Amino acid sequence: MSTPLRIVREKLNITQTELANLMGTTQATVSRMEAGQWEPNASQVQAVLVKSNSLGVDLTVDDFVLPDTMPSAANGAPAATGDLHFDHEHLLGIQDLSPNEISFLLDLSDTYAERNRTADRKLSLLAGKTVINLFFEESTRTRTSFELAGKRLGADVINIAVASSSIKKGETVIDTAVTLNAMHADALVVRHPHAGAVQLLSEKVNCAVINGGDGSHEHPTQALLDALTIRRHKGHLQGLLVALCGDVAHSRVARSNIYLLQTMGARVRVIAPPTLIPSGMERLGVEVFHDMRAGLADCDIVMMLRLQRERMEGSFVPSVHEYFHFYGLDYEKLSHAKPDALIMHPGPMNRGVEIDSAVADDIDRSVIHEQVEMGVAVRMACLDVLTRTDKSNRNGGTAP
Ligand code: NCD
Repeated sequence: MSTPLRIVREKLNITQTELANLMGTTQATVSRMEAGQWEPNASQVQAVLVKSNSLGVDLTVDDFVLPDTMPSAANGAPAATGDLHFDHEHLLGIQDLSPNEISFLLDLSDTYAERNRTADRKLSLLAGKTVINLFFEESTRTRTSFELAGKRLGADVINIAVASSSIKKGETVIDTAVTLNAMHADALVVRHPHAGAVQLLSEKVNCAVINGGDGSHEHPTQALLDALTIRRHKGHLQGLLVALCGDVAHSRVARSNIYLLQTMGARVRVIAPPTLIPSGMERLGVEVFHDMRAGLADCDIVMMLRLQRERMEGSFVPSVHEYFHFYGLDYEKLSHAKPDALIMHPGPMNRGVEIDSAVADDIDRSVIHEQVEMGVAVRMACLDVLTRTDKSNRNGGTAP
């Protein structure tokens, strides 16, 4: 049988071992993938696409997708008990997801988005289940969004805010995890100021864990809600030119968006002063610009990032005033993007710092409020898929 990966390999004219090296895996894994037993994840697809580009071989993300595994289009009713195209215990990052899994989550989110616009939006899918929001870092919108998502699905939702001053030691995270584990939660949504802390916690509990943002690492539900917003306006992600502008260095939103957008076939540019772009950024396959006007030229999507002053040590920008002058989105800079380019921002916004107020509130161009709306739908979809199967026997059924 010719599976997508085998066809991809034939187009590249390389051996299984060469493909394995490219994807950072073993020949045996490639062989399994070619037999249709396994799918490449986002970063593996990305690595192959970058290589195909350099070889001048015309490949897109669609070449990795098995047509008959694509989920059916949104039909207005949540496919709550439909086929599950998502084989993960946790949602820790976009980097672990395949194009099919991303498409599946977006399609399911779409059905929840439609449902949320009707009066009949309260469901009982998660009745009797408990969702705990465990936030080691301040948050209003993400926590509220997860809370609403859990409640719309009928779950009991509990919010725990842990003051950042009490998390000086790694043990605290584990202690907290073990305590909550004993309470038999079904899903844990965790935000933490340190990259990797959510993964660590997920290894200590028996329930599903969703990363609500870990340090400057990943924020998967934000990237999914951004993708859903874009897809609903543009109809697709493939081939779009997306600019991520501003504090890329400290942004988990940027990182998750880069993984997702490239996996789904979009082209990504990052635009920022050199001090706000991490070194080696080009290795992720993005184009780097330091000039807003040049970077925004012909873009379909202009995604602004908040200047994360709380994560900055020392001086990254000379002054807020100067930052706005060079990198703040105003109508003049926006005029270099496509005339129908969408304006996005994950919030919370620093008006007059990274974005002009009038641009942010432009009802014809800005989809910032819709991003918030899609956030609830995406989080419903994630809670739905992660709590669908009986996971009580995870880790051998024993709490650590
Ligand atoms: C983002 C975050 O926390 O990473 N915000 C959010 O999820 N609402 C972006 C930001 O803080 O700038």
